[in-house]
Amino acid sequence: MTREKPKNLWRSRWGFILAATGSAVGLGNIWKFPYITGEYGGGAFVLMYLACILAIGIPVMMTEIALGRRGRGSPIDAIGRVVRENGGNPLWKVVGGMGMLCGFLILSFYVVVAGWAFAYTWKMLDGSLAATSVEALGGVFEAHNADPWQLGGWSVLVALLTLWIVAKGVQQGVERSVRWMMPGLAVMLLALVGYALSSGSFRAGFDFLFHFDASKITGEALLAALGHAFFTLSLASGAILTYGSYIPDGQSIARTAFLVAICDTCVALLAGLAIFPIIFANGMNPSAGPGLIFISLPLAFQQMPFGTAFGVLFFAMVSIAALTSAIGMIEATVAYLNEKHGISRFKGAVASGSVLLVISLLAMLSFNLMSDWTPLGKNFFDWLDYLTSRWMMPLGGIFMAILAGYVLRSEIMRDELGLAPGGYALWLLMVRYVSPVLILMVFLHALGWLLFDPVMQWHWVLSFIMALAGLGEMKRARVRQVFLSR
Ligand code: PFF
Repeated sequence: MTREKPKNLWRSRWGFILAATGSAVGLGNIWKFPYITGEYGGGAFVLMYLACILAIGIPVMMTEIALGRRGRGSPIDAIGRVVRENGGNPLWKVVGGMGMLCGFLILSFYVVVAGWAFAYTWKMLDGSLAATSVEALGGVFEAHNADPWQLGGWSVLVALLTLWIVAKGVQQGVERSVRWMMPGLAVMLLALVGYALSSGSFRAGFDFLFHFDASKITGEALLAALGHAFFTLSLASGAILTYGSYIPDGQSIARTAFLVAICDTCVALLAGLAIFPIIFANGMNPSAGPGLIFISLPLAFQQMPFGTAFGVLFFAMVSIAALTSAIGMIEATVAYLNEKHGISRFKGAVASGSVLLVISLLAMLSFNLMSDWTPLGKNFFDWLDYLTSRWMMPLGGIFMAILAGYVLRSEIMRDELGLAPGGYALWLLMVRYVSPVLILMVFLHALGWLLFDPVMQWHWVLSFIMALAGLGEMKRARVRQVFLSR
């Protein structure tokens, strides 16, 4: 079967790396990672998170890139083509469709949080954050959210900027913007870490992030780490697969995926190393929750020399990180409309943007006019977050792992990944056994099951048996490879 010719390609090898890192590095790294690390107690959580990135994040990311490049298209088309090449069931396209929908739904609440970052860059400058207590700054945050015009205005600005960049195309829009935004982000982050180093509390921040306390390893923390690994690497939401479809043949998928994951992890750790010393230097609580960067940090900025400058730098950095992630979330939809239905990228961006605005309007209103509308105890914003990160992403991940690990003929992935026998066997072990079992745990958790409940002990036994089976498989795959390469 002849392979689909790519319609778009990155201009350079760095195109994918920068765009995928741009999509991976976002609010998840700078807003969510520090506060959940704070909530789950520091070093032990960081260790579990790193293990999840290695064991699941990187193998699933490699799978997505390989599926994208093999099928050369948006998630639905790419998966459809790869499955056709394999002579399989076209229903697998639904997994691609779900990824696209997931990216789209994440974007509809992500623009609200990104809007906070944009608004806070401005508020830092105009003096609205000059309050001197956590309560007063909490009041500023609440007042911002209670005003639909303010909250909506900033969110719409983020949505329009994102759509404008995506409408301009892969090379002219996405690649060009990430090319300056990502180095800019790195410089800002290093400047903030540099400040944190001189704040006198760097050691306390460092210890908090890296001091390992085994008693903090709990089932709940492990599952939070796993869910976050998915979110932070932008897995199963269309972005990586679509960006992967623009990678030229011959570029190493494994090396690229490792590089993106390493950059993403470094940014999360550096963000922690920038934020916690500032929090400790000002005697604040590291487990302040989602308000950590919007309530505690502005107060810390008030109390430090050149605080306004550092505050502006910090929120500008969060805004850029959020924007490059937002681009990734909608790229799959615009690419799909363009490739499948011949709709120009501009019209595709306008059409998907209109639907996006309606859904995100509901997400914005859940902080004010619709705050009383809480079916099953969650407002609309929380529902979007819950459905996408707790269900759609892990579900997409498990299906992608099953597709690549069990359904597709082994030559397809082996050919596309281009790995040495040992590397291929390791990848196979991860997508066949480790990822599905661990992702299954996320589901059980989402269903409210307690991991360490006595009833759940059988689950550990199952994981152990699967791991043993995996090791056996790895050995067999190695033997097969040795024979095949003869
Ligand atoms: N990885 C992004 C973050 O950490 O903020 C979130 C994200 C981006 C999720 C793109 C999904 C996506 F398609």
